[in-house]
Amino acid sequence: MKMKKILLGMAVALTLTACNENKQQVTTATDTAKTVTDVMMSRRSIRAYKDSVINRETLNEILKCGINAPNGQNLQSYEIRVIDSPALIDSITQAVVKDNPKIAERKGFKNIFVNAPCVICIANNTEYDMSQIDCGLLGENIILSAWDKGIGSCCLGSSARWIQDSPSAKPFLDRMAFSKGYQLLYCIALGYPAETPDAKPRRDDMIRYME
Ligand SMILES: Cc1cc2nc3c(=O)[nH]c(=O)nc-3n(C[C@H](O)[C@H](O)[C@H](O)COP(=O)(O)O)c2cc1C
Repeated sequence: MKMKKILLGMAVALTLTACNENKQQVTTATDTAKTVTDVMMSRRSIRAYKDSVINRETLNEILKCGINAPNGQNLQSYEIRVIDSPALIDSITQAVVKDNPKIAERKGFKNIFVNAPCVICIANNTEYDMSQIDCGLLGENIILSAWDKGIGSCCLGSSARWIQDSPSAKPFLDRMAFSKGYQLLYCIALGYPAETPDAKPRRDDMIRYME
């Protein structure tokens, strides 16, 4: 039985060619699926980060995974701004807090991106009805790729709303220079985790098989 499994594994490996752009090692379909499942099931939203900076090479690898996500008609209907400058994160934070002082009252508050050292701002094309789906899939690939590299993340609707709704943050929104018809939809905080939160329970009663 064991030998049969090994032979089957070898056959699968031999049929896969190492022709992908990233020259990834050839693995069996089963190995790949297991790794992806592990990453998906172990990921948690992280809201406490180490000060360590994520280098740009690593960020680029993560973003490349992001834009490789499926997207409607391959329109790639998103625009992405990466902010890893502590000074810029501080300035945006100060602008938002000026208009919403309560935000800074949270315990341990450092910035409006759950204190992360890096944030990815994602805008959707408001003229394309599937754009929010494109943005969500883009973000999930970013989040999972980051987690695979030991980098934590937190999807943030609140931060995007604060930036959109704070008149004092308007200059920063302008600096993001999203194209006409594009609107900041959400942010993803990124950084090396300084906490290991437990998984939150999930319901499954919303899933039904139809016969
Ligand atoms: C669209 C969206 C918006 C979110 N906005 C926030 C937010 O503003 N602040 C926050 O702390 N977490 C935010 N989250 C993270 C969720 O709270 C988190 O994913 C959820 O509680 C499940 O926990 P888990 O990610 O650890 O599995 C958001 C997640 C999504 C998908």
